[in-house]
Amino acid sequence: MAERIAIVGGSGLAWLEALVVERQKIVVTPYGEPSAPLTFGRFGEVPVVFLPRHGGGHTIPPHLVNYRANIWALESVGIKSIISVATVGGITMEPGIICIPDQIIDYTWGREHTFVDSCDVAPVKHVDFSAPYCEQLRSILIKAGKRASVRIKTEGAYGATQGPRLETAAEIQRMHRDGCDLVGMTGMPEAALARELDLCFAHLSLVVNWAAGLGKGPITMQDIQKNLDLFIESVKLLLGNMEADWP
Ligand code: HPA
Repeated sequence: MAERIAIVGGSGLAWLEALVVERQKIVVTPYGEPSAPLTFGRFGEVPVVFLPRHGGGHTIPPHLVNYRANIWALESVGIKSIISVATVGGITMEPGIICIPDQIIDYTWGREHTFVDSCDVAPVKHVDFSAPYCEQLRSILIKAGKRASVRIKTEGAYGATQGPRLETAAEIQRMHRDGCDLVGMTGMPEAALARELDLCFAHLSLVVNWAAGLGKGPITMQDIQKNLDLFIESVKLLLGNMEADWP
């Protein structure tokens, strides 16, 4: 039987309609409650656990997501691989593209960002994070994206900002100089926490707007929502095409 994979969904993906739901499970973790009960089901032939990052009713803002509880809960039910899906602003990529980034720059602050918080629970360790995403899973997603003929970019640096406000134009210029291609609010500490638990983790970044100062006029939630709606089909197509390579 294929290995079960977790999908952590962001805005607009709070419920994957294509998922055939089998059961739900409420998980309690030493770090508190995850954003929602875990939903077990199937996506085609692939067994999946789905977790909506912002809660079932999309009420949890990026800086208040309990990332530690989410990642811990998934690991506790035997998950080894996580696909994180989230909207982003494009710094070097235009709206409409799905990027599978290969790097991260973290600008978040004040988030519970590690499991290394008490020697009783976890001995001090310094995980290698030179390549923050799992290459094996990235390559499965890239192949699936090509098979599905969706517009993908196979690399890019994800800049994680604190939110919930969007960035200033000057902040985006700085991020550009730093080497960021994308900007989003939820990519960290999710990726680092997954690495601390030795989980294979990759990101599907859905570019829904030009980042601040790069498009015409202000960024509106209506524009973001409109672009996001256009992605739902591509995300389903891409995930549906993973089956051939999924172990
Ligand atoms: N900035 C940060 N997060 C985002 C953006 C953005 O422009 N668009 C979607 N998520």
